[in-house]
Amino acid sequence: MASERTLILVKPDGVQRKLIGTIITRIENKGLNVIAMKMLQVTPEMSKQHYEEHVEKPFYPELEGFITSAPVVAMIVEGPEAVSVMRTLIGATNGREAAPGTIRGDYGSSRQMNMIHGSDGVDAAAREIGIYFSEGEICSYDTALGGWTCAAEEL
Ligand code: RTP
Ligand code: MG
Repeated sequence: MASERTLILVKPDGVQRKLIGTIITRIENKGLNVIAMKMLQVTPEMSKQHYEEHVEKPFYPELEGFITSAPVVAMIVEGPEAVSVMRTLIGATNGREAAPGTIRGDYGSSRQMNMIHGSDGVDAAAREIGIYFSEGEICSYDTALGGWTCAAEEL
């Protein structure tokens, strides 16, 4: 069970709805570390890089319009199996289908206005992190809580 890094975005709707703090709290309560964070406006070029697997799909123009429409908060989140742990915490793409208890399930009922992005695999995470952050912006650290959030034999 390796420590992983994943790229998280609070999407434009999440920022507009003042859910930045709520989303960070959910991540911190889960025991994961935020190791880099910034607010920025995604450009069309960044969107095409980020969503490269969707660029040719019919819904891509709407997706690009949405993700570039207002500022986002980008974060790198680190911890044991952080990629899948975050995907579970985030919930299904469409808020109408996302389980209660997940971020999308608790705060939304839309497919596009789904508040948060999380990388869908370790390779995607590494690629996406490179779009949003330089190496010098990443501050990996251990917390004083150490083994109290995850037993050593589980790591
Ligand atoms: P994300 O990448 O944003 O974290 O979302 P996801 O993995 O849950 O969903 P994904 O399949 O990667 O789709 C990326 C975003 O595109 C929009 N979408 N629209 N109209 C459609 O059929 C459709 N399908 C996906 C959603 O806003 C989704 O978050
Ligand atoms: Mg995705």
